[in-house]
Amino acid sequence: MNTTWSEHVQGINTLYMSRKLRFDDMFFDQYDKNFGLDREKDLRILEIGCGPGALAEALKRWYPKAQITAVDRDSVFVEYASAHINGVEFIEGDATKLPFEDNTFDVTISNTVQEHVEPEAFWGEQLRVLKSGGICLCLSARRGIYSSAHCIEETREEKAFWEKAKSWQEVNETYQVCQYPMTEAEIPISMEQNGFEAVTTGYAVINLTPDAPKYPAEMAEAMIEAQRQTSIEAVISAELPGAEKVIDIINSKYDERLRLYRNGFKQWDTSVSVTMIIRGIKTTDPMNEG
Ligand SMILES: C[S@@+](CC[C@H](N)C(=O)[O-])C[C@H]1O[C@@H](n2cnc3c(N)ncnc32)[C@H](O)[C@@H]1O
Repeated sequence: MNTTWSEHVQGINTLYMSRKLRFDDMFFDQYDKNFGLDREKDLRILEIGCGPGALAEALKRWYPKAQITAVDRDSVFVEYASAHINGVEFIEGDATKLPFEDNTFDVTISNTVQEHVEPEAFWGEQLRVLKSGGICLCLSARRGIYSSAHCIEETREEKAFWEKAKSWQEVNETYQVCQYPMTEAEIPISMEQNGFEAVTTGYAVINLTPDAPKYPAEMAEAMIEAQRQTSIEAVISAELPGAEKVIDIINSKYDERLRLYRNGFKQWDTSVSVTMIIRGIKTTDPMNEG
């Protein structure tokens, strides 16, 4: 049973709630034009490092004819996704040793996973399990924009709590997180160097601003709740004394944020995520063609 990521790095709510928003149907066009997949085809799609499954769930809606399989190393995520998401097969497995035969899938896809997996194995395994002509889609979070509302800014008590916590670097080293970061130029180079061809890049820019009138109330409140849960799970993962008190503070801040939203007092706090989409093709190997 591997629970390293869900226990110590990011919890179910952090990943599921933020990704459910990022992969809302409202933003499908941005992904669609960069994915370049045929919705009419019976594609076999493999998602690698699926976490609690929000992208796989969106893929099932977007490509209803596709057969979707998703793997992750973390048992808690796989268990959660299997129990909550229909129509996708979730499997525990390692990206460096995918539990599939060669030439099985038409598409491989991952979101915010490349930076955590040794590149030769990351690309090599996808190349192996893809069919000839198959498409590899690598989604990578880049620096976005974040601006807080006054009522959810960090309090003195929270600051004091975080001063006692391990630094990001320590956490990353302890749990082998983000050991292979790459720039926007390095990812496509790495993809090409590891055997993919016809590589292209594009971006999806997802503006999550609860007060923006285009968002229905349910979605606006989901944005506020996603932030609340991310903050709470970060406190739990820190494994420090005093967590309960800090969680109470977080809850009262976000209760206030919701109250302001519901009463029409606009704060214009915003979180804009920028997702780079790198697409490459496994071209036909002439040696294997009859
Ligand atoms: C930043 S999270 C992203 C999860 C999911 N793609 C999402 O966007 O919500 C990184 C995920 O990669 C998984 N992961 C990291 N290394 C892995 C490996 N070698 N094999 C399989 N999964 C891995 C972690 O368990 C975690 O679920």
